[in-house]
Amino acid sequence: MKHLLYLKNLDQETITEILDTAEHFLNHDNQPLGSEKLLQDKTLANVFFEPSTRTRSSFQIAARKLGADVINIDNEHSSKAKGETLVDTLKSLEAMGVNYFVIRNKHSGIFDEILENIDHNSRLINAGESNISHPTQGLLDLLTIRRHKKDFRNIKTVILGDLSHSRVARSLTEGLSIMGTGEIVIVSPIDYKPDMKLFNGAEYTDNIESALSDADVVVTLRVQKERMDDETQFLDQSKYFKDYGLTSDRLKLCKKDVIVMHPGPMNRGVEIENTVADGEHSVITEQVTNGIATRMAILSIIERGKD
Ligand code: CP
Repeated sequence: MKHLLYLKNLDQETITEILDTAEHFLNHDNQPLGSEKLLQDKTLANVFFEPSTRTRSSFQIAARKLGADVINIDNEHSSKAKGETLVDTLKSLEAMGVNYFVIRNKHSGIFDEILENIDHNSRLINAGESNISHPTQGLLDLLTIRRHKKDFRNIKTVILGDLSHSRVARSLTEGLSIMGTGEIVIVSPIDYKPDMKLFNGAEYTDNIESALSDADVVVTLRVQKERMDDETQFLDQSKYFKDYGLTSDRLKLCKKDVIVMHPGPMNRGVEIENTVADGEHSVITEQVTNGIATRMAILSIIERGKD
């Protein structure tokens, strides 16, 4: 693995290696052993041209734990605001000795051009690309599921919410399919039904009750107003909650040991009820913790691959 751009490019063996390595870090409280300061002489740039709390912070923590220097570049305070292209920004950072680029961008299809232009020793990680891909979120979600359910083959996983604008749903579906998940059900109001060619291996329904029936895992998604072309696509929030919110009543349709996930940030009272977000089935804060171990694993595996 030289770069990490899309989960669909990985095989089961590689994903398993990432999850096993992340488990190893989790078993050591996310502390690398001495020999694991693999990024000691490296510099990682978080280049985030969309807002982030979890992904950017956890890459920063993960890279620092592995010994790297970290710098953060954003929209507002970088020369992007003066019209600099992304490639020119990256080439300038390379000239300062940056080796790793963790990139979040609201536009799709940027990575081919970046790969053509950056140094062959630089490494690229997709930290969120439009509604297309969020592979590190997909991997930390897979880790969270595996830690609770052990085996992907016998579980029913439900992804619920604004599917048409969700890079999280796409990457997670790719990962679940590669791992041979028993049943992947995606559910949304018909207005948010995605192009099913992009969700290989999943079945779609707009019936939330049938979707949740006997589910082992439920992943709820935020309604992403910022990706909608016009206001009419934004459904009334109280109606959305009534029809598609994950409530404690609806949770009773799932298996007794169901886990509830959400990539964050959450809109409480829209896609998820407070009592569910904070309830006994919720593993939402665990996902965040697992994000550090997962990103440490990804960085370690890419760095080891250089040898
Ligand atoms: N899940 C996720 O990508 O969260 P942030 O937008 O806060 O990084």
